[in-house]
Amino acid sequence: MNEILKNDLDTFGNLLQAALQEGLSYLNQLEDIPTSVKPAQAVMKKEVLQGQGGLLALKEFIDRYKALMVASAGPRYWGFVTGGTTPAALMGDMLASCFDQNTQTNKGHGDISALVEFETIQMLLDFFHLPQDFLGGFVTGATMSNFTCLGVARQWVGKQLGYDIAKEGVPTTFHVLAATPHSSSIKALSMLGLGSRQLQRIKTLAPDREAVDVVALEEAIQALNGQPFIVLTSGGTVNTVDFDDLKAIARLKKRYHFWWHIDAAFGGFATLSPDYAPLLAGWEEADSITIDGHKWLNVPYESAFFFVKEKHKLLQVETFQNSNAPYLGDPLENFNYLNFLPENSRRFKALPAWFTLNAYGKEGYREIIERNIRLARQLGAFIQSSDLFELLAPVRLNTVCFTLKQETDPQKIQAFLDILNERGKVFMTPTVFNQRKGIRAALVNWRTTEKDVELVQQEMMQAYEHYSTMSF
Ligand SMILES: Cc1ncc(COP(=O)(O)O)c(C=O)c1O
Repeated sequence: MNEILKNDLDTFGNLLQAALQEGLSYLNQLEDIPTSVKPAQAVMKKEVLQGQGGLLALKEFIDRYKALMVASAGPRYWGFVTGGTTPAALMGDMLASCFDQNTQTNKGHGDISALVEFETIQMLLDFFHLPQDFLGGFVTGATMSNFTCLGVARQWVGKQLGYDIAKEGVPTTFHVLAATPHSSSIKALSMLGLGSRQLQRIKTLAPDREAVDVVALEEAIQALNGQPFIVLTSGGTVNTVDFDDLKAIARLKKRYHFWWHIDAAFGGFATLSPDYAPLLAGWEEADSITIDGHKWLNVPYESAFFFVKEKHKLLQVETFQNSNAPYLGDPLENFNYLNFLPENSRRFKALPAWFTLNAYGKEGYREIIERNIRLARQLGAFIQSSDLFELLAPVRLNTVCFTLKQETDPQKIQAFLDILNERGKVFMTPTVFNQRKGIRAALVNWRTTEKDVELVQQEMMQAYEHYSTMSF
């Protein structure tokens, strides 16, 4: 064994303690670590001939990069839709790395991590008040979950046409209907070879809404004259958390023959709060559902899961089976995740979710979710009563979409956002809604409290003061 490696083996415990100490020092200072940084022009290393051992590698990383780590796990990182990591989720994640299982099968190959994934999926179905007739698994993010679900949907459409798309390729026309799909679903259509242009946009309920107009959807369905198609719906849009009327779509599903997918990447968590659960009524009728773990479940990146109705198991295997591998046996008899989703080799992805679900349960998460929603509303009320800002959409759940009052110049709105973000106390991301440039704050972190919202309000005022001195 290489001498440096041998030395690391002999001092394994010390190395892990040293890394843990650095991790803890970050977590303990999260409140004060800036939410954004401007990296200085770094000299990038190109090669490492002789290694230096784990301890010196840690030292080099800390010296060069620690000060550039932003507080993305903290309570005021409101850009994109970024969750943090609960203590128990982090415990599970660390152990997933220590155990380093290759999670594939629930029988026959000598490890049981896939059984834990099965158990986690069952717990998640119960957590989301969904029936147990879905088969689920973990992937890296909602993008890959949308990809997985739409991959099976693609196979279903092919079957209706008497065509095995997994084997024969994609027919030239392919019908996908949606009002406001997340960009990742459009990306999934591209990756699946369906082509993003095949997406037929259905109008929304009104120009300032993102939810589908169900009457227009039904008209589009009728115009297809019985051809198979996919309906892609939102269980919370990313901009304004508008929900398609899932109950009405469940009714359409009884009358028409289509594959129904719901992207509920973070909106699915509304089911945990009795006040917001009705937004998801009917979702149990969907063929497939996407939910993210690294958003409101607050497990570390990369984690999401899909639920696909178990009755579509054969289609799922046809889509993802790792064929020509006789040593893996019949994919329907010998369950193996590699035949049900894109990746073949997989880490023990379910473990952080297993830990956090067991640690905090539905009640713990209901508190996080209701607190985030309450705080988003508090920020929304501040904006609504302000002379400087205005809401672009009502605060429907946990996201606040706003802009500068009566300002339409995108450059100016971006300038304000840059000032706000550069101050380093809060991070928000730009958007465009209803043809106006805006700013989004998405609250999904378990640590966020009233104190954070108050501090952000002050930050917004001070950033505005600075902005108002700028000349354009
Ligand atoms: C509704 C929705 N779907 C999909 C995604 C993509 O998620 P990921 O980045 O986990 O792939 C997001 C991300 O914000 C989202 O909000």
